[in-house]
Amino acid sequence: MSCILKNKHKTDQTTVGMPSFNVSMFLLILSLLSFLSLNSEAAPEYRYHFCSNETTFTPNSTYQSNFNHLLSFLTSNSTRESGFYNTTVGQTPENTVYGLFFCRGDLTPDECRVCVSTATKEIVEQYCPVEKVAVIWYSECVLRYSNKSFFSTMFQTPTVSLYNIQNITEPVRFTQLLGTSMNDIETKASNAPTGTQKFATTEAKFSELQTLYSLVQCDPLISSSDCKTCLGIAIGNLPGCCAGKQGANVLYPSCYVRYEIYPFYKVQAVPPPAPTPVLLAPPPPKGKSRNSLLIIIAVVAATVVSILLLCIGYYLLCRRAKKKYNAVPYENESGEITADSLQYDLATIEAATNNFADDNKLGSGGFGEVFKGTLPNKQEIAVKRLSQTSRQGAEEFKNEVLLVAKLQHRNLVRLLGYCLEGEEKLLVYEFVPNKSLDYFLFDPKKRSLLDWSSRYNIIGGVARGMLYLHEDSRLRIIHRDLKASNILLDANLNPKISDFGMAKIFGVDETQGNTTVTCLQNMQCTGSFL
Ligand SMILES: *[C@@H]1O[C@H](CO)[C@@H](O)[C@H](O)[C@H]1NC(C)=O
Ligand SMILES: *[C@@H]1O[C@H](CO)[C@@H](O)[C@H](O)[C@H]1NC(C)=O
Ligand SMILES: *[C@@H]1O[C@H](CO)[C@@H](O)[C@H](O)[C@H]1NC(C)=O
Ligand SMILES: *[C@@H]1O[C@H](CO)[C@@H](O)[C@H](O)[C@H]1NC(C)=O
Ligand SMILES: *[C@@H]1O[C@H](CO)[C@@H](O)[C@H](O)[C@H]1NC(C)=O
Ligand SMILES: *[C@@H]1O[C@H](CO)[C@@H](O)[C@H](O)[C@H]1NC(C)=O
Repeated sequence: MSCILKNKHKTDQTTVGMPSFNVSMFLLILSLLSFLSLNSEAAPEYRYHFCSNETTFTPNSTYQSNFNHLLSFLTSNSTRESGFYNTTVGQTPENTVYGLFFCRGDLTPDECRVCVSTATKEIVEQYCPVEKVAVIWYSECVLRYSNKSFFSTMFQTPTVSLYNIQNITEPVRFTQLLGTSMNDIETKASNAPTGTQKFATTEAKFSELQTLYSLVQCDPLISSSDCKTCLGIAIGNLPGCCAGKQGANVLYPSCYVRYEIYPFYKVQAVPPPAPTPVLLAPPPPKGKSRNSLLIIIAVVAATVVSILLLCIGYYLLCRRAKKKYNAVPYENESGEITADSLQYDLATIEAATNNFADDNKLGSGGFGEVFKGTLPNKQEIAVKRLSQTSRQGAEEFKNEVLLVAKLQHRNLVRLLGYCLEGEEKLLVYEFVPNKSLDYFLFDPKKRSLLDWSSRYNIIGGVARGMLYLHEDSRLRIIHRDLKASNILLDANLNPKISDFGMAKIFGVDETQGNTTVTCLQNMQCTGSFL
């Protein structure tokens, strides 16, 4: 059993306050890890881009040289305290390039720099290599350029809406709360003077366990009234594209709005209380109440102690990370992995999995089905057959596979290669024999097979794997979908994290688990803009 398991347990895992010690503990670890990952310097979160293929420049032209200067000026000015910058490069009108970026209002200069340098790099390498007019949105910054001056002007096209496919409970009450929150911050952001950050956020409690996080931001160069108009239109778009959804993001070149039920920016004041695990003990039968009380105390004490140990452990791991884990050479420093060396042919995989026979099916998940296979040399593999909706081209796919294959750590499931033939996109992984953590945790009988020391070992291993992904690997990968079913166990019950890097390979914006899709209805991306 490997890679993705059946989703049967999915709902159990995400239901907060399950009357189970294991679930509560696991949720706690998860929230601890995700909290830390939010605070560490993460890779910028790509949202969307648009570039008009109607105006392109010729490679090696004066225009391109000016364009390259523009991008390097923007990058070198990205640590400015203001969090935004606009500049112009070029002597003659036909070769002049205009560009700007603005970072999310809550970022430090250093975080802003990370986003702008990623944006300037990715837009030319991946998205818009020769286009003169482009805009790219990240969660952390917006980058725009054109061969026409556009500073201080409000633009309402193109529009992009993204939403989280999860539905909210009580949509009517949620929409009201959202409306109030958005109006409040719309005013706050647009009242800021032109030439300063026009940014505001707010939190509102929706239920005991759910908080609504909302954010609005305008291009700092546009006027207050333009900002108000732009935000007004963006907020007005929310019901049309994204009613009843747990999160949504409407993007314009001059402003954007976003809301989620998890924090996606730095919350200013005291963070809302984290959901505390509810320990539901059965009502004590008469005469045994003293005993049950003792058990409850013992359970509570154990929880508190384990949480403390965990926090301390993770803290120590983080502190000693550089020193200690550089010494564990799981990353293949000199090993020359190339896209060709990772390629498997379809016939081999079909033979290994008996033509994707149902008997060999290990499970299915958000990205496709997983099959067990045996190669002619008897090596066991797990093959993930990606569903057809990936929007990536072959080259991009190969590059991402290559990057992820270079991530090697004993607590990560190893990606061995891929297969790309016709309609098929397959990922080949090492086979991990002992299924996944949820298979043990959520089964009343199997649960007892995990004693304290193996649980401790699993927690430590998961933390080490995450630390490697976040800090010590050459890429910085944020998993964003860490859960019991993504933690596989090897023959000795050592944990191996699976499904990391899927957002990259799959080419989706997988920022809330695998839940974001584009809302085509509002993409008025045709025709000219700017
Ligand atoms: C621009 O892209 C559209 C849609 O992909 C395509 O139909 C059109 O031919 C392209 N135009 C140019 C000039 O490449
Ligand atoms: C921008 O470039 C397009 C085509 O490359 C050209 O038609 C247009 O006139 C240019 N705009 C300006 C203001 O130079
Ligand atoms: C652009 O310049 C580079 C290096 O200067 C060269 O390798 C490339 O062939 C040139 N491309 C074109 C289209 O002239
Ligand atoms: C910032 O941009 C300007 C041009 O707009 C450029 O001259 C300067 O070198 C850039 N870098 C810094 C650090 O100011
Ligand atoms: C930046 O934008 C402002 C406002 O539109 C404009 O006055 C200024 O000239 C721009 N700076 C550059 C270097 O183009
Ligand atoms: C959300 O609700 C819509 C319509 O009410 C439904 O079609 C969709 O399947 C639901 N999505 C989820 C993830 O439950």
